[in-house]
Amino acid sequence: MSFLACRVYDDGARLESLELADLCPGNVVIRAEYSGINYKDALAVTGRGKILRRFPLNAGIDVAGTVESSDDPRYRVGDAVLVNGMGLGENHDGGFAQTVRVPGDWIVPLSAGLSSLDAMTLGTAGFTAALAVQRMEVNGQVPAMGPIAVTGASGGVGSVAVALLAKLGYEVIAVSGRPEHGEYLRALGAARVLTPEQLELGGRPLESVKFGGVVDNVGGSLLAGLLRHVQLWGNVASIGMAGGHGYEASVFPHILRGVSLLGISSANCPMPLRTAVWQRLGADWKLDGLAALRQRVLGLDEIIAACPALLDRQSHGRLVVDCQKVA
Ligand SMILES: NC(=O)c1ccc[n+]([C@@H]2O[C@H](COP(=O)([O-])OP(=O)(O)OC[C@H]3O[C@@H](n4cnc5c(N)ncnc54)[C@H](OP(=O)(O)O)[C@@H]3O)[C@@H](O)[C@H]2O)c1
Repeated sequence: MSFLACRVYDDGARLESLELADLCPGNVVIRAEYSGINYKDALAVTGRGKILRRFPLNAGIDVAGTVESSDDPRYRVGDAVLVNGMGLGENHDGGFAQTVRVPGDWIVPLSAGLSSLDAMTLGTAGFTAALAVQRMEVNGQVPAMGPIAVTGASGGVGSVAVALLAKLGYEVIAVSGRPEHGEYLRALGAARVLTPEQLELGGRPLESVKFGGVVDNVGGSLLAGLLRHVQLWGNVASIGMAGGHGYEASVFPHILRGVSLLGISSANCPMPLRTAVWQRLGADWKLDGLAALRQRVLGLDEIIAACPALLDRQSHGRLVVDCQKVA
């Protein structure tokens, strides 16, 4: 049976009707319910970033839905599942489609505490924020060490990081270049909302301690500046590069204060850790008021038009995709 997909060619993306045989191989077929537009997806769909490693390919680095058919004994028809990362929407047909086919090894059973809409309201962005918090806590981060600065706070990863850290008892400083999102960020749990300039980050290799830790989605000079102000044995989770991938920094925060720079890579997170983080997001880390994170729920046919705004910093929170909806 044919189905619709947002398919990316080397000369652009379009909504297209496909057959199952057109999809990359896999032993589990999923009826996609929800996906979401992540930064990487917007780069892939617009062609502004080299994300796709083959053409044509259905974009969408995550998806949640129900199993339609399975040759994998672990999954039965009707099971609620999700996939994020693993090459989905990068070198394997992704989640911006009504039907998705993947190897069973990539599948995460949906936590009982999450609907497919909840899961993709979080999406890769939310999973990555939670992975960062998990790694920070395993490495000794506790609320008593001081406030956590979250950069790119009004974006998808930033919004979930703000909400999750606040839920866990951290004082959160939301760092956003767009003060107009202050009310939104305070409602998610931020104690303070500051612009990068208002942080008054000095330029010396070590500066006064201002933060217990950092969740950074921006990179560049902002990351370098924040590192100089982190508490003894604090953790800085490096997630993104919305402001630039390069940065120049001193080793002093690491060798004199024991500050750790933790790399966060959602795409290739080991499966046991991936499953554990998703389970927590449906249990003790379940966020109240997930709906507040959803800026919009789009139809499949609205993805292409929505992507440039996300890259041009005209979007906030999460853009969720209803994979069965087409106007
Ligand atoms: N490591 C991983 O596994 C992983 C997973 C997911 C995402 N990421 C990365 O994390 C970053 C955030 O992803 P996302 O999905 O949350 O994207 P998003 O929703 O577009 O959010 C990005 C946020 O960064 C800030 N920003 C955007 N352009 C900027 C610029 N030129 N300079 C400084 N700040 C800028 C904006 O926040 P304000 O306007 O509030 O400042 C924006 O809302 C991206 O770089 C993405 O590639 C990494």
